Amino acid sequence: MTPQLEKTLAAKARPILEKGRKGDWEHTLRTIEYGRKLLSTEKGEEDIVIPALYLHDTGWSAIDYQDFIKASPAKKKETRSLQLHMKQSARIADEVLQELAFARDQRIRIVSIIAVHDDPEKIFALNDMSATLVMEADRLDRYGKRSAKRYEDMFGPDYFKEAAWKEGVTMRRDGLDEWFKTKTGKALSRRMAEEMGLFNNV
Ligand SMILES: [Fe+2]
Ligand SMILES: [Fe+2]
Repeated sequence: MTPQLEKTLAAKARPILEKGRKGDWEHTLRTIEYGRKLLSTEKGEEDIVIPALYLHDTGWSAIDYQDFIKASPAKKKETRSLQLHMKQSARIADEVLQELAFARDQRIRIVSIIAVHDDPEKIFALNDMSATLVMEADRLDRYGKRSAKRYEDMFGPDYFKEAAWKEGVTMRRDGLDEWFKTKTGKALSRRMAEEMGLFNNV
């Protein structure tokens, strides 16, 4: 992707993401930062990973996601809106990539990753390193100090005081082995989990 094309893509994605969940644009920028870190040491295609990350969460702008906000951390993945946002993100991504004249093969691959990006089993079933890196980059933003602010923005200022937070800690600890398959992803997630105090007694 040329710097000019990336600029245009960012300019298209930003207003859509700003209509989604609070903090979705900033989340997207962090996933891109993590995506580049992963790409610097792992095999994966920048032309797939980076556009997929720009557009992966655009679908939240098109749906009602109150069930997602209200569900406890362990139940969020069972919500209707979690499934729906992937479908809508895929639809929006397809439109944006067509508008920007991405090659058909590239567009199809990006859209099919976005369509399952929050479903680890389906991502691994694609057997595509670029898909794995998209998921790892996205999930890295569940760790580290900056992600703490993201959770407060999305779920309210009391999030860290509530029982839900403890449930979230357990999920993130288990997620370290479940979600991260690459050496770089494993190292980064563990470092940020430590920085977040995830191994302290919560
Ligand atoms: Fe997502
Ligand atoms: Fe995301």
